[in-house]
Amino acid sequence: MKIVLSYLLGIVFLSLNIAVIAAEHVTPTAPADYLAMESPIDMEDVDDDFLKKYKRLYKSKCKKCHGMEGDGQGSAAEDIEIKPTAFNVAGYMESKKDGQLFWIIKNGSEGTEMESFGPDSDAGLSEEKLWGLIAYMRSNFTK
Ligand code: HEC
Repeated sequence: MKIVLSYLLGIVFLSLNIAVIAAEHVTPTAPADYLAMESPIDMEDVDDDFLKKYKRLYKSKCKKCHGMEGDGQGSAAEDIEIKPTAFNVAGYMESKKDGQLFWIIKNGSEGTEMESFGPDSDAGLSEEKLWGLIAYMRSNFTK
């Protein structure tokens, strides 16, 4: 009986801990040299063909967590403790510097499911594609 009880208590404390870890998580800020970066893509050059191409890439690599609407509610989001960021929240896209978005997409966010997508990662996306994704996000999710 005692063993069962301490086992149950253990589970309760463990899940409380996980909830606290998730609640306390703050998305890390990029180093200064990244924050100073600006996208090489001029938003005026972003046309339908460009958006179509990056929609495909976003769909294959990002949708399952961040959702096609950028609401952070992709199919995999439910099982993730630290939730995928919602991009379509008023003011979010404007509040984020190009270099911050670039740094996280390139390197991931340690301790979360946000993996790295940069040239050295398994996904192996070129820097050009990372900037393309950011332009796609700015064009679609800015509210
Ligand atoms: C397996 C789930 C998953 C996938 C796939 C995923 N992300 Fe994320 N993403 C996350 C999580 C979780 C966070 C929250 C990280 C944090 O708060 O530290 C996040 C955070 C971010 C941020 C927030 C940066 C900030 O400073 O607010 C950006 C931008 C981002 N992801 C872009 C992308 C892009 C682009 C893709 C596709 C190339 C992608 N993510 C794919 C889970 C995912």
